Amino acid sequence: MAGDNAQQVSDWNGAVGEKWAADQERTDQLIKAFGDKVVEVARAAAGESVIDIGCGCGATSLDMANAVGHAGRVVGVDVSAPMLAVARRRAVGMPHLTFVEADASQAELTGPYDVLVSRFGVMFFDDPTAAFAHMRQALAPGGRLAFVCWRTAAENPWAALPAQTARKAAGIDAPAADPHAPGPFAFGDGDRLRAILSESGFERIAIEPFEAPMQIGSSPRSAAEGAVRIGPASRVARDAPEKLPAIIDAIEAALTPHAAEDGAVSLPGQVWIVTAESPG
Ligand SMILES: C[S@@+](CC[C@H](N)C(=O)[O-])C[C@H]1O[C@@H](n2cnc3c(N)ncnc32)[C@H](O)[C@@H]1O
Repeated sequence: MAGDNAQQVSDWNGAVGEKWAADQERTDQLIKAFGDKVVEVARAAAGESVIDIGCGCGATSLDMANAVGHAGRVVGVDVSAPMLAVARRRAVGMPHLTFVEADASQAELTGPYDVLVSRFGVMFFDDPTAAFAHMRQALAPGGRLAFVCWRTAAENPWAALPAQTARKAAGIDAPAADPHAPGPFAFGDGDRLRAILSESGFERIAIEPFEAPMQIGSSPRSAAEGAVRIGPASRVARDAPEKLPAIIDAIEAALTPHAAEDGAVSLPGQVWIVTAESPG
């Protein structure tokens, strides 16, 4: 059925979500700079209410709960039961932070909220305009939107290089995927993203580029092993399990020229930092 997010919900509530849950500490470290930027531009004040869309293992929800304090309220929403289990463990002793397992594009979101935030959790909707229009209804008049999403795959070599290498090693010669399809790079085109937000009723839209280094491994080998667990190369590895050792070897070789003297592999992450408001 079109527009029900079925593929993404199934992926995130299955093997993909289980890997994210298992790798929570490593992933949080890898993308911390981008979440910190979201917290900064969200400008949450003590006592405000916040909803974190696609909250996953809860890192941004925890940051926002600390920002609004016990007089505030934070709700994390996600479709992934394994990731929410991690989030709930991390929120023990924080009664003003709760988590809900639901599809944010369709569920009743129990607003109104002062702020809607997301760290890489809003690029997975089959119908993004309808999803943002629905989520906007959960904001109070004048409520703020603040999220981070990836720019295009081509602008993010930390993901594109392992993925291209994996495809070659696996002998996969499929046509290039639709760059706008639900997935991490669906909002890479900033003009399209602006149109989606505008058509879903947001105003004062700002889409700013931001870059931070991503240390994807302490060595090319560990970076390759990480790439086949999480990210675009992992999907190639999932589709060609018998080629996994060759894929890891090939990614290690491709990343070796990018290693620093101590072996660590660091590549730039390129994102959009997005802010907007619901009409007052
Ligand atoms: C790339 S992960 C980011 C997780 C978390 N925000 C972080 O930064 O660690 C994307 C998250 O979006 C969630 N997600 C995907 N589609 C969703 C939907 N329709 N409603 C709610 N969450 C969704 C996934 O389950 C996953 O946790």
